[in-house]
Amino acid sequence: MKIILIGYMASGKSTVGKILADKLRMSFIDLDATIEKSLNLTIPEIFKNRGEIYFRKQENSILKNILKTKDNFIMATGGGTPCYGDSLKMMLENEKTLIVYLRTPISLLAKRLFKEKSERPLISHLKSMEDLSEFIGIHIFERSSFYNQAEIIIDIKSESEEKVAETILTRINEYENSERNS
Ligand code: S3P
Repeated sequence: MKIILIGYMASGKSTVGKILADKLRMSFIDLDATIEKSLNLTIPEIFKNRGEIYFRKQENSILKNILKTKDNFIMATGGGTPCYGDSLKMMLENEKTLIVYLRTPISLLAKRLFKEKSERPLISHLKSMEDLSEFIGIHIFERSSFYNQAEIIIDIKSESEEKVAETILTRINEYENSERNS
């Protein structure tokens, strides 16, 4: 099985993904880290030196390669991964994939992102908490038609990442049982 976590920046995709991979004894793939490794540049460097369009093309082709060559993994994608080119279509149509969206309230995202916005090229220019919250709200609104195509949607509150991972496991079991019976 290929479990793919999608959702906005700071929704916990990487942390929850690692916990899930441990629990299921499956390998964990961090798409952002794979892109950084393959280009030998950090994400902010890629955006700064090559621009976002170059980043999106690399993101799409590295994702395509992972889907084609690997099996049995949990993957944390970047916040924009499903929203560009044919990336979402590829993930939905690839065999044995299950896409899980970590839907997270704007207030929680803004609180988490304010502390680390300097490492995130898309939000590093935003000065105040109000500007950041407004940006996130509009951005999620634009992206939600992609995110909402996930097979499983988990509504995050302020529970621990361990608890989120357990909820995902329960929901995956329910999803698979309902697919089996349909
Ligand atoms: C992005 C999210 C980032 C990273 C890049 C662009 C986005 O990943 O891929 O900075 O467009 O939302 P995380 O969601 O892991 O922060």
